[in-house]
Order: sequence, then structure tokens, then C-alpha cells
Amino acid sequence: MTAADLTGAVHLPIVKTLHWPDEAATARFALALAAQPQVRLAYIELQGDLGAGKTTLVRHLLRALGVQGRIKSPTYAVVEPYELHDLNIWHFDFYRFSDPREWIEAGFRDIFASPGLKLAEWPENVAGCVPKADLVVQLGVTEDESRQVTLTAHTAVGAALLSGLGITSEHNAP
Ligand SMILES: Nc1ncnc2c1ncn2[C@@H]1O[C@H](COP(=O)(O)OP(=O)(O)OP(=O)(O)O)[C@@H](O)[C@H]1O
Ligand SMILES: [Mg+2]
Repeated sequence: MTAADLTGAVHLPIVKTLHWPDEAATARFALALAAQPQVRLAYIELQGDLGAGKTTLVRHLLRALGVQGRIKSPTYAVVEPYELHDLNIWHFDFYRFSDPREWIEAGFRDIFASPGLKLAEWPENVAGCVPKADLVVQLGVTEDESRQVTLTAHTAVGAALLSGLGITSEHNAP
């Protein structure tokens, strides 16, 4: 037993694999995630190929948090902001973001310094600009079109999200 175990500290990252057979499973996960208090201050990265289901997950999550009206994919606008009465949310899609020098000019540094939920698709394109993600959701499409999902919590906020979801550590990555 280490000192960290004695103090109750969590070992990060925490990695867990899930299987979502259909979009309804994605929606159920989004609903459970929306119910976690820490989601309101989290930075969550969505990884996976084109069509993996990143925007679909974000749509279900935003609906579950109370966003009404159309939820557009921010592929062209790069970011779509949402203002709920008690929560600010920013949904980024960095697929077309090619010049990190625009980061500050576009106001993204200010957004990441603001309280609220930040969700980012294609975070690979802004590595070095974004802070460490609290939670990374990696989506893969299997042969039968279901989704293989890897959740990685990198921070205490991410660990709290997973533990609130009833997800315990499968293994700690090196
Ligand atoms: N289990 C599942 N979870 C999420 N989406 C699913 C699932 N099964 C099938 N789908 C379908 O896969 C598609 C995913 O499209 P989506 O736009 O969410 O992908 P994306 O990862 O955001 O792609 P892009 O990189 O182009 O933004 C949708 O048509 C959705 O209905
Ligand atoms: Mg998308």
C-alpha cells in the first residue's frame, strides 16, 4: 500500500472500456453523465474517426442538460456556445482548425479559462493549446456498427465523473 492509498488519493489516469450496441446506449450514457455535478466544470475530449459518434454523444448530452432548439455540429463555426440559466457550455469541433496561432485571437484561451462545460471534437488538432482533458471519450466503430468506447479520466474531476457513473477502474494506464 502506498501513501496515496492511505490518503485516499486516486491513481490517474483511470481507463475503462464500454460497449454501446446502438445510439440508445449512447443516449443513456449521456443522460447519466449529465446528472453528474462535475460535468458542469469539465473539459471533455471526444476522439474517433469521422462518423464515430462524437457529435451524436454531444447532442444527447446537451439535450439532457436542458439545451433546447437545434444543436448544430460546429464543423464550420469551430465552436457553438450554449447559455443555460446556470451553465455555460461550449461545443468545439477542431476538424478544420489548422492554425494554432489563431487560438488567442479566436478567444478560445478565454473560453477555456471560463467556468462551464467544454466539449471538443478533434482535439488532436489543437494539442498544445488545450488544457489536459478531465475525461477523454474515445469512440471506435466495430464491424457490426456498434461502438467500442474507451473512457480515460486524467484528473480528479474526470475520476469523480467516472465514479459518479458507477464506473470503477479497470486498470491504470502507465
Ligand atoms: N452507438 C452509437 N452511438 C452514436 N452514434 C451512432 C451509434 N450507432 C450508430 N450511430 C450513428 O453514427 C453516426 C455518427 O455521426 P456523428 O456526426 O455523431 O459522428 P462524428 O464522430 O461527430 O463525426 P465527425 O468527425 O464527422 O464530426 C450518426 O448517424 C449516428 O446515428
Ligand atoms: Mg462531429
